Amino acid sequence: MIVSGSSSQSLAATLAAELDEPLAAVSIEQFPDGELLASVPGLADAERVPDRVVIVASTVSSDAHVELLQLQDAAQEAGVDEIVTVVPYMGYARQDASFEAGQPISARAVARALSTGADRVVTANPHEAAVCDFFDPPATNVDVAPALAEPLPDDLTDPIFLSPDAGAVDIAETVRDAYGAGTTDYFEKTRTSGTEVEIAPSDVRVADRDVVVVDDIVATGGTMSEAIGVLDARGAARVYVSCVHPLLAGAAYTRLARAGVEAIYGTDTIEGPASAVSAAPWLADALE
Ligand code: R5P
Repeated sequence: MIVSGSSSQSLAATLAAELDEPLAAVSIEQFPDGELLASVPGLADAERVPDRVVIVASTVSSDAHVELLQLQDAAQEAGVDEIVTVVPYMGYARQDASFEAGQPISARAVARALSTGADRVVTANPHEAAVCDFFDPPATNVDVAPALAEPLPDDLTDPIFLSPDAGAVDIAETVRDAYGAGTTDYFEKTRTSGTEVEIAPSDVRVADRDVVVVDDIVATGGTMSEAIGVLDARGAARVYVSCVHPLLAGAAYTRLARAGVEAIYGTDTIEGPASAVSAAPWLADALE
């Protein structure tokens, strides 16, 4: 049985179809004081408690974390044997170290909390694969980046797949391999604030070439808008943005549109205006 958090309803439905498993009815209520009550009424029938429940919930907000904890607890309460927690986008994963004295390791904190209600965890392209080690039960990191080749036009001219920093070049290579043509390279990025970055271009030739800028996540759009500006100044032809997690916080979509992006293609690990392709087939492989 597949159980969906409110942030992952489309992905959960696609996953249920991929796995040929029923999609549970879920109820999400809010009390007047703002507290949530996420429940799975279909699990109430003790005769029909499934052996395995797969809870699918991207933790895009603090409320989404609470919902997921409640859904896990509801499955435990119903006596489900195996609770698999799929966190397609793991919130707080980027704070995977204590970068300054006194800071928490937020990824570890949320992983510890989610571990209490999971027999197994599956996540997709966390910022660093090592965050999987923060979970107590076995945790699998699924690479869904090949999906990002699908929405790209077939007729890219002399394409280059660029990552804004060295850390994401693996994802750029994966998308290039799945696309079946093109070269890869990366820029050097220095973050100057929470929303601004500086990009130092590499020597790669981009003039008159179609460029796909590939990253694991677009959050404020600061990284991508800076990269698009550099590419534009160097005479790139069309510039596409591909990312696994199209978080697109605040006005990020508008920021990229104004920077001149041709299109933004993301997966449905985060459901929104740039969720062009589903991560479900890759997640389903990990769950079969
Ligand atoms: C960080 O290294 C990540 O890979 C992304 O580049 C970053 O999180 C994007 O953030 P923003 O869209 O706010 O620049």
